Amino acid sequence: MLICIPDMLDKRDVADFRAIMDAAEWQDGRSTAGAQSAMVKNNEQLPPDGATARRLGESIVSALANNPLFVSAAVPLRIFPPLFNRYGVGHDFGLHVDNSIRGDPLTGLRIRTDLSVTLFLSEPEDYDGGELVIEDQFGAHEVKLPAGHLVLYPSSSLHLVRPVTRGARVSSFFWVQSMIHDVQARSLIFDLDQTIQNLVAHLGKGDAEIVRLTGIYHNLIRHWAEL
Ligand code: NI
Repeated sequence: MLICIPDMLDKRDVADFRAIMDAAEWQDGRSTAGAQSAMVKNNEQLPPDGATARRLGESIVSALANNPLFVSAAVPLRIFPPLFNRYGVGHDFGLHVDNSIRGDPLTGLRIRTDLSVTLFLSEPEDYDGGELVIEDQFGAHEVKLPAGHLVLYPSSSLHLVRPVTRGARVSSFFWVQSMIHDVQARSLIFDLDQTIQNLVAHLGKGDAEIVRLTGIYHNLIRHWAEL
């Protein structure tokens, strides 16, 4: 399941982020890659433990917590402190799968990576190439979203970032451990929640059958959730 969430950050937030990031010191992106990924990773990143990445990351995490579509799709338990990368001309990241477990040395947080997230911080017209290509059972999907939008995809998917041939592709990326481990179960929970929201919009919250459906939603979460 690949889900795009629009307007996680508004354009003014994106401009503020970019002003701070463009003035920051960047480092080789391989420091956060596993041994195998490091061989195909070719980009720059903000130092993951630096004050800039942490401060910007905290604003992303609070925006996520206030976004109903993100919460509905991810059912998040833990969110890894967001990282930030930049692909200039000639940079790319070859086909890889993300590490299954990530630990944060600063906070001691350890998560199982159920979902991978890319939050785009460059407008698509400001660079050529740089598409995120995600493989699933239905084939390869190319993703290149407006600044402030994000894509959420299962961390089990093979993916790559195509070489940038003009401009720069700046983004934030991070991982989510969901309360719902099983990808199919999480997809059902998401579909059910979206359907309930649509019914509420048509029929109003007080409808007796919607109350029953909402009960089923919560009982499924109770059945599947791991905290
Ligand atoms: Ni990756």
